[in-house]
Amino acid sequence: MHNPAGLSPVVAGAWRLAEWGWTPQQRLAWIEGNLDLGVTSFDHADIYGGYSVEALFGEALALRPALRARMQLVSKCGIRLVAPARPDHQVKHYDTSVAHVRASVEHSLRSLRTDHLDLLLIHRPDALMDFDELADTFEALRREGKVRFFGVSNFAPHQLAPLHRRIALATHQIELSPLHLDPLHDGVLDQCQDLGFRPMIWSPLAGGRIFTADGERERRLRQTLEAMAAELAVSVTTLVTAWVLRHPSRPLPILGSRRIEVAQAALAAAALRLDAQQWWRIWTASTGQEVP
Ligand SMILES: NC(=O)c1ccc[n+]([C@@H]2O[C@H](COP(=O)([O-])OP(=O)(O)OC[C@H]3O[C@@H](n4cnc5c(N)ncnc54)[C@H](OP(=O)(O)O)[C@@H]3O)[C@@H](O)[C@H]2O)c1
Repeated sequence: MHNPAGLSPVVAGAWRLAEWGWTPQQRLAWIEGNLDLGVTSFDHADIYGGYSVEALFGEALALRPALRARMQLVSKCGIRLVAPARPDHQVKHYDTSVAHVRASVEHSLRSLRTDHLDLLLIHRPDALMDFDELADTFEALRREGKVRFFGVSNFAPHQLAPLHRRIALATHQIELSPLHLDPLHDGVLDQCQDLGFRPMIWSPLAGGRIFTADGERERRLRQTLEAMAAELAVSVTTLVTAWVLRHPSRPLPILGSRRIEVAQAALAAAALRLDAQQWWRIWTASTGQEVP
């Protein structure tokens, strides 16, 4: 399994950063707290916070620019939101044209106050995606030193393969958690393993729903997770992360908490290897049925 962009075993997700309402100093403390733990990769997208998060991060980074050398910056492009920051967008849509990808990368670089991205992902598969044009765009961005590695997010295997045949991708960023099992069964994780990709996992805690949602499924799952966490003397966050990490593709989970102790609990999962029975117990609690 490869990790060419050198991502850390746990990645810090910046999606919610604007919601936290922090000062630049508080944002810097979050960045430094993660770095000090060994969470050195930060996951962004042009659209996060209605196109505001990258600049909030860059503003904090500007307080201590030397930190850039200690981190990997990941961003995404390809979605055009209807937002006050983009008054010309009349309908939410996807755009993987050379013009949009280039403009988005330049915007990310300026906002993050950096001269290169370590990894750029296409955020969602675009029905109008021209594989040749996109591969050429990636190649040019690499030649210019603006982006080191490329990948995709939320693609089906048949959408990833044609792009990967044209230009070597580094990873696939996907949703996986005990409340989102699809990639275990739809071929996405099989493809990651086959290609030697270590998938980046978004919302490994189901965006907090593991702890807070109170549907029948979530309550059943939570009961099992809490019982197992007590048996294993770990936190539910550590247990859920260990469940994600147990996949042979060697996933890289992206945690989205404002609290550094959540990243710490996720890192602790490296020391907890679940056996097959423990892993399937969580799967069974989630689905509400035993395997056939
Ligand atoms: N590629 C894509 O399409 C895509 C889509 C979505 C996200 N992402 C990436 O993935 C990253 C992670 O996503 P995520 O934020 O959904 O991940 P997550 O780690 O599953 O969820 C984080 C959320 O869970 C809450 N939480 C954590 N522990 C909790 C607890 N014990 N009790 C209650 N709530 C708790 C956090 O709140 P606190 O802050 O209060 O701890 C936070 O709001 C994002 O930042 C983004 O970078 C990518």
